[in-house]
Amino acid sequence: MIKIKNVKTLSGKVEDHIIQSDHDVVLDVQGKLTLLPALIDAHVHFRTPGAEHKEDWQSGAQAALAGGVTTVFDMPNNIPACISQSTLDEKKKTIDHQLAQVKIPLRYYLYLGADQSHLEEIGKLRSKIIGVKVYMGASTGGLVMTDPAALDRTFQMAAQADLIVAVHAEDEKILQERAQLFKGITDPSIHSQIRDRAAAIKAVNQAIDLAEKYSAQLFVLHVSTAEEIDLIRKAKQNGILVYAEATPHHLFLNENDYRKWGSLVQMNPPLRTREDQEALWEAIRDGTIDSIGSDHAPHTLEEKKFPYGSCPAGVPGIETLLPLLLDAYHQKMITLEKIVALTRTNIESIFRLEHNDDVVLVDLEKIQEVRNEALKTKCGWSPFAGRKLRGWPVYTVLKGQVFHNTEEGYTI
Ligand code: DOR
Ligand code: ZN
Repeated sequence: MIKIKNVKTLSGKVEDHIIQSDHDVVLDVQGKLTLLPALIDAHVHFRTPGAEHKEDWQSGAQAALAGGVTTVFDMPNNIPACISQSTLDEKKKTIDHQLAQVKIPLRYYLYLGADQSHLEEIGKLRSKIIGVKVYMGASTGGLVMTDPAALDRTFQMAAQADLIVAVHAEDEKILQERAQLFKGITDPSIHSQIRDRAAAIKAVNQAIDLAEKYSAQLFVLHVSTAEEIDLIRKAKQNGILVYAEATPHHLFLNENDYRKWGSLVQMNPPLRTREDQEALWEAIRDGTIDSIGSDHAPHTLEEKKFPYGSCPAGVPGIETLLPLLLDAYHQKMITLEKIVALTRTNIESIFRLEHNDDVVLVDLEKIQEVRNEALKTKCGWSPFAGRKLRGWPVYTVLKGQVFHNTEEGYTI
């Protein structure tokens, strides 16, 4: 049994909290730590198989725990892409092996990538996957669905299988046209011009139409513009089963950040304007945004320094997700209850997950700078490095095991 004594609850009370476990642990935190449900990060790229030099499940699992995350949903854009029974089984085997090596029983679910030539796999694999991921525009990896008939069929088959369709909503045709238009420009900020908001808006519109057509459940990943939010808000009002995710990078960074970070903050969809950022926060407050997922997309610093065109898109984020949100809480941008809803309870209900008793104990008053050297992710850098954040996870409890997060050790 794990007995956490004198821990603060969300309501501000100080009490003891018991978790069933084979281990006998007593942790008296003397009213200094706050108990939150551990996070579900419904959007990570842990790079297994095929790009383990960027991340694997050994480093990824440690990064997850350091961020207070005990459940992840991993994306299918691997090498090879996870699009069939065999690639899924093989991927799962490798993950289990890597997790066993670090003795972290991280909870995980896998997305199946929608691929035109493997659509029949959707129904067959329904009990083994968390949902179907559709790349409406190409990003890292070769997955992309440009044929409207295949896209239509994907929604139909997912609806029949009672599976959520998670979309990377950027219109491939617009992306390609604009890449031609701006060919030769190497300033990384051109990324936001090429992957123009019109591409995202068009794709979200199309996905909502298909969700309506088949009464499918739609999960719009990394919403980045005010117009997408308006479309989703209206669709929800019309009873369409659409859910929306925001990422920390779209919430805490904007186009101005290219000046300082250059290609390091190149990601898909790209950074948008300050007004879009504000619209995202408003959508969090009014319930249009259902979840915050890190879209943890590690690439090595060496790769991120390649010139525009060769530089891969994506930023890591699983370790900084919770500290950024706790810091935002101190700035009165979000409540603790809302953080719990967006990073845990909403995701549990959207994906109908069984509840578990994993928790994270946070020190709401701890002020600490994000430092690359302190990160557990294999890529070893963060676009939030140098930010002093107030509020950090200290202990994460996963399946009745206590993991201590801080690098320097923590004394109550
Ligand atoms: O920026 C991104 N990086 N967006 C994606 O859609 C994929 C991700 C990656 O896997 O690197
Ligand atoms: Zn992603």
